[in-house]
Amino acid sequence: MFETLQAAAADPILGLMARFREDQRAHKVDLGVGVYRDPSGRTPVMRAVHAAERLRLEEEDSKSYQGMLGDVAFDAAIQSLCFGPSEAGIADRLATVHTPGGTAALRTAADLVRAARPDARVWLADPSWDNHAPIFRAAGLGVRDYPYLDPARSGLRSAELLETLETVPAGDAVLFQASCHNPSGVDIDAATWERIAEIAGRRGFLPILDMAYQGLGDGLDADAAGLRLLAAQLPEMLLTSSCSKNFGLYRERIGAVSVLAASAEHTRVAMSVLLRGIRANYSMPPAHGAAVVARVLARPDLRADWEQELAGMRVHVAGMRDRLATTLAGLGCPREALRRQRGMFSFVNLPADGARRLREEHAIYVLESGRINLAGLNDDSAVRFAHALQAVGFTGD
Ligand code: LMR
Repeated sequence: MFETLQAAAADPILGLMARFREDQRAHKVDLGVGVYRDPSGRTPVMRAVHAAERLRLEEEDSKSYQGMLGDVAFDAAIQSLCFGPSEAGIADRLATVHTPGGTAALRTAADLVRAARPDARVWLADPSWDNHAPIFRAAGLGVRDYPYLDPARSGLRSAELLETLETVPAGDAVLFQASCHNPSGVDIDAATWERIAEIAGRRGFLPILDMAYQGLGDGLDADAAGLRLLAAQLPEMLLTSSCSKNFGLYRERIGAVSVLAASAEHTRVAMSVLLRGIRANYSMPPAHGAAVVARVLARPDLRADWEQELAGMRVHVAGMRDRLATTLAGLGCPREALRRQRGMFSFVNLPADGARRLREEHAIYVLESGRINLAGLNDDSAVRFAHALQAVGFTGD
């Protein structure tokens, strides 16, 4: 059987993370995988998460199965966090279920689209997260691109994006990242969201919103503004969300998929199909992280502390954007777009071989594409990184 297989290429993100771990140099810096690090380089367990875990240890009285919906308190709480005030007008047409991370949310959403429309294509931003296309292809869907980034990889090609959406047929799906675009940090502006809502409503394609960084851009509500606008205006959409970054729960695998359909009955039927898919795939999600998030969101003291710590993370990442931009400007190789972008990621336009040279000569790990995770920097490494960029031939915008 297995002699028929050919080895798969290493994952561009997780493969680099593994190489970083093997690197013995003490001064190494990981700007590859999208993980938040505090100024001392740690990825902390958030205070409120720790407190909720302690409570859970004391209060948990059973490890029996929860069922395909997972923790229903989590499902309700995360739905409210994502949809905010827009939830009120659509509550009877909206349903949310916990999935093992944002990746399983995307795969579950893909399986639902495939069940509804086996010949649907999914349109992805060019570029998008490296794992988006593999997820949709693995579900048997065709994948197409829409224009997103300008040639300098610093801003949005809004007009070309909207022009392309005008060609997307009803029955296809279009994935948009809600905020903190991975890999570019370039977000969709309010005016473009308005146009997207209008075009989607008129043409009848299905928007899939992917929100993996809520709270790490401009704030919990601001980062969900595009999603909420679409949810309030459109009959149908899917949301995939993740608690990996904003709760720091990466390894616990906490995400969710939300279905908004044209009527309560359509939502009920779609959820029944989605849950059958979950049953045939992983049966039900793991309980621990969802119970922790549900507690943090339900208890006012824990929630306030979580929001405060998250705000501190957001400020730190924005500060690293500024520090890198200022240092690069001082070195004569400016990249001002860093200041206009949001969230953990950005591109630096490296010369050929730049990523390898940063890795080998400077012990700094960035993706081959030039994507950097600003949340991996601190005051010192931001300056070191700027000098290393200049040394490998980075010339600025
Ligand atoms: C990233 O893009 O680095 C993160 O979303 C982690 C991952 O799974 O790729």
